[in-house]
Amino acid sequence: WPRGSRRRDGAVRIGGVDVRDLAQEFGTPLYVYDEDDVRARAREYAQAFHDGDVHYAGKAFLCTAVARWIKEEGLGLDVCSGGELSIALAAGFPAERITLHGNNKAVWELERALDAGVGRIVLDSFEEIARLGYLARERGVRPKVMIRVTTGVEAHTHEFIATAHDDQKFGFSRNSGAALEAVRRVLALDALELVGLHSHIGSQIFDADGFEVAAHRLAGLLVAIRDEHGIELPELDLGGGYGIAYTDGDEPIDPKEMADRLRDIVGRECRAYELAMPRLTVEPGRAIVGPGGVTLYEVGTVKDVEGLRTYVSVDGGMSDNLRTALYGAEYTCVLASRTSDAPPMLSRLVGKHCESGDIVVRDLWLPEDLAAGDLVAVAATGAYCRSMASNYNHIPRPAVVAVRNGKARVIVRRESDDDLLRLDAEVEA
Ligand code: LLP
Repeated sequence: WPRGSRRRDGAVRIGGVDVRDLAQEFGTPLYVYDEDDVRARAREYAQAFHDGDVHYAGKAFLCTAVARWIKEEGLGLDVCSGGELSIALAAGFPAERITLHGNNKAVWELERALDAGVGRIVLDSFEEIARLGYLARERGVRPKVMIRVTTGVEAHTHEFIATAHDDQKFGFSRNSGAALEAVRRVLALDALELVGLHSHIGSQIFDADGFEVAAHRLAGLLVAIRDEHGIELPELDLGGGYGIAYTDGDEPIDPKEMADRLRDIVGRECRAYELAMPRLTVEPGRAIVGPGGVTLYEVGTVKDVEGLRTYVSVDGGMSDNLRTALYGAEYTCVLASRTSDAPPMLSRLVGKHCESGDIVVRDLWLPEDLAAGDLVAVAATGAYCRSMASNYNHIPRPAVVAVRNGKARVIVRRESDDDLLRLDAEVEA
């Protein structure tokens, strides 16, 4: 839950605003962001990595308002498409604090990045090295680039596997020598300025060990590069992936502790090989916007499936939160518009889409007197919910509201039926 959420007069309040008022004014389903929570988490990361850089990963959720919050808190921004780049630029985000990612950047995306003057471009394939070299030369610019390295560490929720995991689409493998070959090719092009190495090992990670192994291996590559080329790359980007608490069992890593451990491991390596300490960058997405976002739904049908459970249907579903259907994600949900003393019933929170996999929360306890018109709130939906939302079943995507100091404002408007029809090329007059 956002730090600014409380229960008062029976109803949940977020950022000082009663969810009943939010539902009344803006309708449901509704994504609600506690602006102070998002800003505070951004600041915590920035402070923890005060001697490095924190780039918010915009894929978690980006709109012009959020880009502005991130800018104001002094962070950088990662984008992984031309669209995300456009949103950032439209928000007035300083281009030099933007990094462009992607395993298959289109020529127009590279051109847009070069024309805007983004701070870093992370190179992901040999073709891209040649392509960007050509485009940069053509424009007479010399972009700063990093090489994305597959370190052989692949981390997932609750665990990490330090294997030679090269069987995936991103980056250049360290094990096969592709990463060092990429370095050679970039250094051979005057049009590109190689500033460092990048790695991202996974997402929703709770164990710092995977990051440490990756940092250790990248530092080893810096040594190999120094030995081969006589240059010390000044930057290491260790990616994002810091886990957040979706349910009680999840224990997030403290940013400061993480920063200290990463600094330690890279520092030790550098001292051992007499290498200057590189500047560290991290790219948290989920950890910045996830906890501060809540989705409000209105309860519709409540159906008791005899002997099994009660299916509680809400007015959204997999179109506004695909994570449960896609990843088996777990969430916490409460009755938000009132309190209830009724005994708990085993429930499943489901959406209104035409398939049975349309589940928002698989197993939860809700009070037996839950009824149509009640509001429920699903916590920690700030990351990868609106950004992965769809119009499946021609359901308009919900509005996004930011709350702060007892005031709410729309930061992304709700789609209307007209919006859905707008792109249809053969509508009858
Ligand atoms: N940097 C890079 C290069 C990434 O690929 C990602 C996420 C991040 C940073 C940010 O990771 P975070 O700190 O947010 O975990 N849709 C999935 C998550 C996909 C993450 C992809 N890359 C989900 O809903 O869990």
